[in-house]
Amino acid sequence: MKDDNAPKADPSSGLTRRDFMKISGIGAALPLVIGPTVVRAAGEDIEVHGPGKVPVALNVNGKKLTADLEPRVTLLDALRDNFDLTGAKRVCDRGTCGACTVLMEGQPVYACMVLAIEAQGKKITTIEGLTEGDTLTPVMQAFVEHDAQQCGFCTPGFVIATTHFLQEHPNATENDVRRGLSGNFCRCGTYDGIRAVALAKKASGGTA
Ligand code: FES
Ligand code: FES
Repeated sequence: MKDDNAPKADPSSGLTRRDFMKISGIGAALPLVIGPTVVRAAGEDIEVHGPGKVPVALNVNGKKLTADLEPRVTLLDALRDNFDLTGAKRVCDRGTCGACTVLMEGQPVYACMVLAIEAQGKKITTIEGLTEGDTLTPVMQAFVEHDAQQCGFCTPGFVIATTHFLQEHPNATENDVRRGLSGNFCRCGTYDGIRAVALAKKASGGTA
């Protein structure tokens, strides 16, 4: 029976329907290719990456890190699974809890909501990059002194967020702190301690 929905060859192209079907079959059987394909859509050339692995280079904590990753891989998964930087935690994996907070170009971002491929060319700082060696930063030290963690799972994200917040708002009030850190959740409920950290470091002027 004739299939009216079957792909038809363009008569002006010189291709027979059989040629067209052969070419389509070859395309479907190609191995996953590294490197972008350029397609033309709405008058523009658009690079299409994947679905196979593509080379990705990231600038993390001042180091160039490279890996072959599928374009769907998030910055969070790349950091944790490919580069062994496990300070940023995966909790919700949907941009609501802040456990995965890192700095990108100096701004806090949820690493689970950024694709590794789109983080290329940006300066990424993780909790591991805030310190040199084993010396805690003043904000980290204040988390210890104010007992601002229990299980500690949310703490790296909170430390990144608090450090950035205090750099941007050195004269923050308690309400400012509440609002400024509202993008991070703590299931253990250590909010009082974390606010105390922010207010203490604000008072001492030390954020680094
Ligand atoms: S794991 Fe990224 S916001 Fe929760
Ligand atoms: S200390 Fe446990 S989730 Fe915050």
